[in-house]
Amino acid sequence: MNAPIKTAVIGCGRFSRTPLGNLKKHTELFELTGVADIDAGAARETARQWGIGRWETDGARLIDDPDVEAILVLTPALAHAEPTIRALRAGKHVFCEKPMARRTADARAMAAAARDAGRVLQVGYVMRHSPDAQNLRRLIREGRIGRPVFYRDIWALAKGNPSPSTHDARLGGGIIYEHAHWLDFVAFVFGPPAKVYAATMRLKPDLTTADDTFILIVDFASGDRAVWSESWAARGMGWDVMAVGRKVRPTLDVIGPKGSIHFPSPAGERILSLYESADQNGTPTEQWAWEQDWGANSAAYEGELIDFYRCVREGLSPCPTPDEAVTANVLAEAAFESSRTGEPVYLEV
Ligand SMILES: NC(=O)c1ccc[n+]([C@@H]2O[C@H](COP(=O)([O-])OP(=O)(O)OC[C@H]3O[C@@H](n4cnc5c(N)ncnc54)[C@H](O)[C@@H]3O)[C@@H](O)[C@H]2O)c1
Repeated sequence: MNAPIKTAVIGCGRFSRTPLGNLKKHTELFELTGVADIDAGAARETARQWGIGRWETDGARLIDDPDVEAILVLTPALAHAEPTIRALRAGKHVFCEKPMARRTADARAMAAAARDAGRVLQVGYVMRHSPDAQNLRRLIREGRIGRPVFYRDIWALAKGNPSPSTHDARLGGGIIYEHAHWLDFVAFVFGPPAKVYAATMRLKPDLTTADDTFILIVDFASGDRAVWSESWAARGMGWDVMAVGRKVRPTLDVIGPKGSIHFPSPAGERILSLYESADQNGTPTEQWAWEQDWGANSAAYEGELIDFYRCVREGLSPCPTPDEAVTANVLAEAAFESSRTGEPVYLEV
């Protein structure tokens, strides 16, 4: 029986309670040895709340501790690369939250550091571990509706978010912060991207310095096309309100030459429906319950950490691999460039 991995957490913000809860749930896999945050109050309170004996304001003290085997990096995107690379060079395994980094160059440096160190670097692209999202991917990749497909996805978070990363352009802002999950997921489904076109708007200039509304088109080398749109520009929502009785993902349609896949059901239920021929008169071939409308259910957050444990203890490659995780950064950077120039960006495939 393998011993639990001695694990430390850097970054004790709003999201940290999800991974901390899962680490504590699986004490047979992880032993939490310390937490760090540049905000002493956040570090102290997190240590108290989760019964962890050690807290620091400098994450490097945990990284440099020879007793620590793995580091969870839960800081904002701009502060992912530095602790991740330092930890890998110190021989630690790293689970780093998404997006991998603020800049593609940093993401590539993180992937290189993992390669050089021969350590696991797993990025928290949780949709890859979600049964809902995996089912959708399987239907497409098994060719149930034929290929290539037109994949249309609308996320309408008529909301704000108290994290500055979502509304401060210097910290990443809209597309790259919240949306890296989608960028990674379409690369997971369709493979290498070939061309990106994006148009963005900023409709709440008094509340945000980041673009808050966009449409993005990605053409893949496979011939598939994915179109995605989102806005959190609805006025009067405040930063905390998720939606006005709306789902995070009100519409998902995947259209192929032999059929189509839709979410939600015609009655608006959280159900994914597969239609395999033209003469079904609105009757789907199969339907599946879809737990979380944005695509990653609670089991997925637990699953990705269990997977991280297996990769560390059994020497497996994580999902995504570090090089795969870089793709979301490449897509986001191309989207920003396309939006700025008004021209599509062609990518090396
Ligand atoms: N997988 C998901 O579904 C999901 C959901 C939300 C957030 N996230 C990701 O989790 C990460 C954290 O998000 P959040 O909402 O908790 O952000 P947050 O801003 O609430 O918290 C970040 C914390 O990191 C601390 N911090 C900043 N720089 C630091 C440094 N150099 N060293 C130590 N601590 C530092 C801050 O003081 C703050 O307490 C981000 O990468 C975000 O994208 C993932």
